[in-house]
Order: sequence, then C-alpha cells, then structure tokens
Amino acid sequence: MIEKKINHVAIIMDGNGRWAKSKGLLRLEGHRKGVENVRKVVDKARELGIRYITLYAFSAENWDRPQSEVTGLMTLLKTFLKSERKNLVKKQVRLLTIGDTSKLPEGAKKELIKTKDATAGFTNHNLILALNYGARQELEFAVKKIAEKVLDHKIVLNDIDYSIIKQELYTQDIPDPELVIRTSGEHRLSNFLLLQTAYSEFYFTPIFWPEFNENEFEKAIDSYKGRERRFGKTGDQIQKAIIKE
Ligand code: FPP
Repeated sequence: MIEKKINHVAIIMDGNGRWAKSKGLLRLEGHRKGVENVRKVVDKARELGIRYITLYAFSAENWDRPQSEVTGLMTLLKTFLKSERKNLVKKQVRLLTIGDTSKLPEGAKKELIKTKDATAGFTNHNLILALNYGARQELEFAVKKIAEKVLDHKIVLNDIDYSIIKQELYTQDIPDPELVIRTSGEHRLSNFLLLQTAYSEFYFTPIFWPEFNENEFEKAIDSYKGRERRFGKTGDQIQKAIIKE
C-alpha cells in the first residue's frame, strides 16, 4: 500500500476538566497536565514528518467560563509561550496563531509576539495555536473584508469564489487538515475550522486530553492511513489515480 502523506493534523484537546475531576483535582490541574501533553504531541508530530499541527487552545466561547478558569488558562498560555520558546527554536518549529489574539491579556500577547518573532524563520514545522478562535467569527471577519473589497472596486461580485474567501481566513497560508482528532469521547466540532475540515477525516477517542500521549497520537495517524479519501469521487476512480501516481 502507498504510504498516505499527512501534512496537517488539527486537535480538539477536550477532557481536561473531567480528567481532573476523576482524580479529585481542580479543573486547572487538568489544564496544567494538558499543557505537558502539548509538548509531547508536538514533538511526536515533528518526528512523524507532520508539518502543521493546530491545537484548539482557547475558543471564542471559552471567555464565558468562570473568571478564575479563564485567568488560569491565560496564565498557563503565557507560561507556555515563555518556557517553550527555547524548545521551539531548538526544534525549528514556527509558532503561528489563528483567532483574534488582540483580545488576549497583555502579558500573554507580549509572550506570543516574542515567540512568534523568535520562530518566524522556521517554515518546515509549524505549531498553530487557535486562540480566541471561532469558525463563525472567522467567517464574519472574512465576509466583511470581501465586502470592503467590493465596495472599494478591488473585485466585482462575480469574482467571489472559495479561493477569494480562503484569502481572508486566518488559515490563508495553511493547508487544510487531513485529520482532526477530538479527545474525551465528544463527537462535535465546536466551532472549530468549519470550512477547512470540509474533506478532513475525523478521529474520536474516549481518552481525556491529559492522557492522550504519543502512542495514542500514533494510533490516530495509523487509523488515518488506513482510510480511503474520495473527495466526492468513487472508490474505483481513487484506486486508478493511486496506481497512476
Ligand atoms: C477542553 O477541556 C480544553 C480547553 C477548553 C482548553 C485547552 C487548553 C489547554 C490544554 C491548556 C492551554 C494550552 C496551551 C497550548 C497553553 P475542558 O476543560 O472543556 O474539559 P471538560 O470537557 O472535561 O470540562
């Protein structure tokens, strides 16, 4: 069988709170343990030659959580960005973000800029953090930008197709994920990359994010490799195209 190339994996890191509760710990402890896992999984992705890894770290809706949890998550983010900078530089991993980062607390924003700047030259491997991200908000933002271009006579209505829309998404320079993983047994997208996952494969596991280790990540990749992606075509067409390659 021809090895299926995988360039981009996106992960919904769910179950930190339930993991903590199952251990009699505070929810924030679950998030803290979750951050440790980020490091492991990013390293594994790099080792497997996966060029892009996107992590849903904070959704646009997560601001509605109790204030103490939001503050705790923002502190964890700031600490992660600061402490991980050296490691990302050493491993030559570029840090990118999707989402409206202008709304993040100043301290986190500062560390974000520093880490992005320090890693900007590394394009082979990319860690993308979704921060204050929501797919519907991303679409609203894109539609406004396109409307502006029409009003400014930079494009006409008939020019609008998906390639024009894509140019205005946070992910304009990032390939669509071939695989989306969601941990903790939930089966939904929760406003994550709704357009970019049109043809993605999905992998759901009951394991809570703090326990989703490198081996579990490899299992997800193996599951992907055994699948046939048809993009609306028939299985025969796909097989013939593979033989031709
Ligand atoms: C979902 O678990 C997880 C989140 C809302 C945040 C994910 C954040 C981290 C892993 C830490 C921050 C990340 C970085 C990169 C610094 P949940 O709290 O919804 O779990 P539950 O459904 O069991 O309550």
